[in-house]
Amino acid sequence: MRLSLSQRVLAAAVLLASASIGSQLFAHGNVTPQPVDTTALPEIGDAWLQHNPYRGNAKAAEIGESAFGQNCARCHGLEAISGGIAPDLRYLELGDSGDEWFIMRYQHGSSHDGKVYMPPLGEVLGQKAGWAIRTWLETKHTDG
Ligand code: HEC
Repeated sequence: MRLSLSQRVLAAAVLLASASIGSQLFAHGNVTPQPVDTTALPEIGDAWLQHNPYRGNAKAAEIGESAFGQNCARCHGLEAISGGIAPDLRYLELGDSGDEWFIMRYQHGSSHDGKVYMPPLGEVLGQKAGWAIRTWLETKHTDG
């Protein structure tokens, strides 16, 4: 099969993009982020909110539980009970100040000295999925 020039340029761009996303996201193991279906939740727009618009919403908690299992549990532990690789998210503060810390990490992840400890997930999974996970986490809250 012969590819046109534009097809070849496109193929090269796709390869490059997947290589660089790969090295950022998969530093802790080869697990692809799993898309989360949030169509059942109210729209909240594109601008990032600082406080959880779904707090106490049972549907959001249900979606968040499964999204957490697929995207966060491998580092933060099943049921959010940490095995020690990453912080135990049951201890995150409840309410608005916990929300702000949560969404900052979710959006931007965490790196020090050029090493990725947690990949940024906001772009990949979206804001609705983030707040759904936060809603579920609040139902698991434990005092440290
Ligand atoms: C590759 C492993 C990894 C994955 C996947 C991961 N995290 Fe993290 N997360 C970490 C590590 C490590 C830290 C600690 C970072 C630090 O202190 O610099 C952290 C920190 C956090 C914090 C701050 C906790 C605190 O007490 O300061 C939150 C909130 C968080 N992660 C949420 C999530 C959510 C939600 C997901 C899934 C959508 C997720 N993380 C996926 C490794 C991961």
